Amino acid sequence: MSDSHTTSETEPESDDEYTSLAIEGELPLKAVGIENLKEANPKHMPPHRYIHPWFARRPTPAARLAILGSVMEEGTSADELLSLMQIGPDGLEENISEYVQERKTTEGQRDGTLGEWYGYPRPFTQSPTEDELADLHTSLRETWDGELPTVLDATAGGGVIPFESIRYDLPTIANELNPVPSVILKVMLEYAPEVGSLEDDLYKWRDRIQKKASEELDDLYPTKRDGREVLASACTYHIQCESCAGTVPLMPKWWLHKRSAGEGVAIKPHYENGDVSYECVELTENSNTDFDPSEGTVSRSDVECPHCGVITEYEETRELLKNGEFEYQIYGVKYDDPRGGSGYRAGDDLDQQALKRAEERIESDFELLTFLSEKVEVSSRITDPATYGMEEWRDIFNPRQLVSHYEYCNAFRECAEEIREEYDTREAEAILTILTISASKMIDRNSRMSPWDTGRGYPANMFMSHNYSFRRVFCDNNLVSETMGYEDTSRKVIDCYEELVEMAAGRDAAEVYCGDAADLTSKVGEGSVQAAVVDPPYYDSVMYAQLADGFYVLQKAYLSDVHPEFFTSELTNKSDEAVANTSRFEGLEGEKSKKQLAKEDYEEKMAEIFSELYETLEPGGVLTIMFTHKETDAWDTLSMSLIEAGFTITATHPITSEMPNRVVMRGSQSADSTILLTGRKPLHEKEDTGGATLWDDVKSETRSEAKKAARELLDSGLSLTKTDTIIAAFGPTLRVFADNYPVVDKKGEEVPPRDALSAARDAVAEVLAERYLDTKGFDDLDGLTRWYVLSWLIYETDTMPYDEARQLGIGVGVNIDDVKRDTKIWGKSSGDVQLKTHSNRVQDIVRVENGEDVSSRKYPVNPTDERFSHGIDAVHSAIHVYETKGPEAAWEWLSDRGLKNDERFRTTVTALLEVLPQEHETAETLRDILSGRTGEYLDIDISNINLNVRGEDDEDNQAALNEFE
Ligand SMILES: C[S@@+](CC[C@H](N)C(=O)[O-])C[C@H]1O[C@@H](n2cnc3c(N)ncnc32)[C@H](O)[C@@H]1O
Repeated sequence: MSDSHTTSETEPESDDEYTSLAIEGELPLKAVGIENLKEANPKHMPPHRYIHPWFARRPTPAARLAILGSVMEEGTSADELLSLMQIGPDGLEENISEYVQERKTTEGQRDGTLGEWYGYPRPFTQSPTEDELADLHTSLRETWDGELPTVLDATAGGGVIPFESIRYDLPTIANELNPVPSVILKVMLEYAPEVGSLEDDLYKWRDRIQKKASEELDDLYPTKRDGREVLASACTYHIQCESCAGTVPLMPKWWLHKRSAGEGVAIKPHYENGDVSYECVELTENSNTDFDPSEGTVSRSDVECPHCGVITEYEETRELLKNGEFEYQIYGVKYDDPRGGSGYRAGDDLDQQALKRAEERIESDFELLTFLSEKVEVSSRITDPATYGMEEWRDIFNPRQLVSHYEYCNAFRECAEEIREEYDTREAEAILTILTISASKMIDRNSRMSPWDTGRGYPANMFMSHNYSFRRVFCDNNLVSETMGYEDTSRKVIDCYEELVEMAAGRDAAEVYCGDAADLTSKVGEGSVQAAVVDPPYYDSVMYAQLADGFYVLQKAYLSDVHPEFFTSELTNKSDEAVANTSRFEGLEGEKSKKQLAKEDYEEKMAEIFSELYETLEPGGVLTIMFTHKETDAWDTLSMSLIEAGFTITATHPITSEMPNRVVMRGSQSADSTILLTGRKPLHEKEDTGGATLWDDVKSETRSEAKKAARELLDSGLSLTKTDTIIAAFGPTLRVFADNYPVVDKKGEEVPPRDALSAARDAVAEVLAERYLDTKGFDDLDGLTRWYVLSWLIYETDTMPYDEARQLGIGVGVNIDDVKRDTKIWGKSSGDVQLKTHSNRVQDIVRVENGEDVSSRKYPVNPTDERFSHGIDAVHSAIHVYETKGPEAAWEWLSDRGLKNDERFRTTVTALLEVLPQEHETAETLRDILSGRTGEYLDIDISNINLNVRGEDDEDNQAALNEFE
């Protein structure tokens, strides 16, 4: 049995000739969601996820489901789909979904590996068998007029979708705008299946490059001192104190490897005569020392001079760095000792001399002086390296890093000649490309942006947070060393490649294009594609091109004559990139802000991409989009582009695809669930009947479809967050909207999809309140109180996106902007709405009673009032009185205002207790008020309400997720 939610119940009336597809029916979403999360375990990643950094890669099971669901006919059973996806143990042919769910729910009893517990290996390690492929192809040919359907991914990124498509041996086309992932696509989709294993050859050339480069680099690492080889150096900056001229290191903390709270290895600075020297110390909890490694010189971005105590403010430090008024300083070194293990020591003069040698080398070599001298493009979104004086890409390296990358590039170029002579063109191309990936991957952990991970005592990668953050402490690796440089990185890349070869064995290569998805038809042909399965960029979630430039300039230095078509421009193509990039509109603001301009630009580009996909699809072709964005704006854009391109929206499915607690996702707009949204190209062009539908006529259908979808989702047992439930209900709403398009209001003005989405949000909020709020009389509360409670209910935290909060307000008749000033019920926090508590809203009763002047602008709720305009004001006041004056005074306060019999007060209290997390201070005080003397007075029975549904769920979910971390 499947457990999916779908919007398609009947075939579209005007296009009843095309075959409905599996994705338009029920799907085994729960089992696939479980597999997606299993794949998120960093210890068990598929090879293409770590062959080279790229952003927003999707899990294999989600990609498989999107592909198979888009090409197989409706009626394909959940078991057929799952076993083709290699989910479930051998021999189990029925009820696979139930089996997977049972394994998941009993996972607490597991000892042994995940594979042993589930009884089958991770699906990405398994390709379909030849028999499975033969059966699949026979049935696909029946569905698609005798041919195998061609699958196109127009924004292919790291290539998960097209790679899975070739594993099912389907004709596959992958397109990507950015050359950096395009190089990865070449490796995965062309060389792996076509050229095959190159293990011996890759190692042979890798070793030659290593030998040549290390001969040039040996003197830059005082490597063999004491027989110990430098692996990585922890580097910082020394600036001069403006006041005492002493040397100031820019150190937030002195830990090199912090094993636990007070234990680990740290560098202890010694300050003398305006100078600083370093000592490596091993600290244990019993260490008798007044040295606290957590106390560096930098606090909240300001720097305190350790010699004279004068503070240099952040802006001043930044100026010094920008003007090059600093020295690089190696303060710690991780080394390898051939006599046993690795260890740490302090940086010293020998290390500094090595840095100096690198600097001199640069100055004496013209080629080095111009290596990677492409300009860093300014960005307002990512921390701009130019702010710190890194104006050319070469500046993101310290001199030794730059020389090291340069020497590897030189060694590669020297070998390239020989490689070309020894191999046929395709093999040579593959070897050169894979070896370039190894070199490019190295910069992730070897630049001024690569942080030192004190938890592991080890270099970390630069894109942990999807931006080029400046690091006061960074790592400088010895690329020549066996474990921290080229040898190890290239071994990993070669291993990845060989795994990919195995996975793609016997399959045909895909066609790979590097270009704008809005300009594809000329390459792939009109009407030539049956299934477009895409995972487009999500607004401003990731600035792919800006992030890619560092890799791009290095890859260009290696590969511009191997793939000249990829490296034609100075930097990556930002003007065609479909992201909302405000920095492109810097200085162009007029009537519209740069944010608005960026938004419109993104929308236009997405619309162009969807109409291009429409052109490439044959009539009846399918488009499945993976969409991972919560904001209504994004959905508005997406739906409008699809409708305008001519697509009929036929299905949506929510699928758990990401680890919700991943650092990068936290606080960003990316959801934990991905929505699969499916549209079809009609068999016949829709006739323009010229008629428009009145919004009033479709509004109630929109609402009831959304409610129906939400109820089904809540009953389905899929563990979706409440916001994801709202998003998942957008699908049916959009179908109604698209079927009736264009939709106009009474004045004849066109209604945008966002109005339908708003109506859906509102309707689903009602369903959620109906499900999760037992409190009777909630609907009779005033709008402001309802909004406050619903916000807590849906977002499960005090902070939520402004736009969503605003729309939720409209649903209950409250304009949140109008009430902000007078009620102080919310405030802005980094563009989000933050709900306020009593302490931010209620005047101090003691001061009011003493006749002191208390700002009613700052604190609008006066607790001495007899009556309150909003239920939430009365409750916040009661909490304040209880906390300030104690239970006796609170008892009097409540009885003076007759709150014992006040239904509105009672309802607000119980509703709040239902939605607030147990540990929230308001919930704690409310529980106190409901016990003891005040409790006797109020006599509010809360025994029937489920006070901690959310808390318990969260703990369970968290425990389950932590298992996968
Ligand atoms: C969400 S990512 C795709 C990730 C991919 N599905 C994976 O799992 O690795 C979106 C991709 O769209 C690419 N992109 C942005 N604008 C584009 C355009 N106009 N044409 C083609 N690709 C574009 C970005 O470079 C990025 O790699």
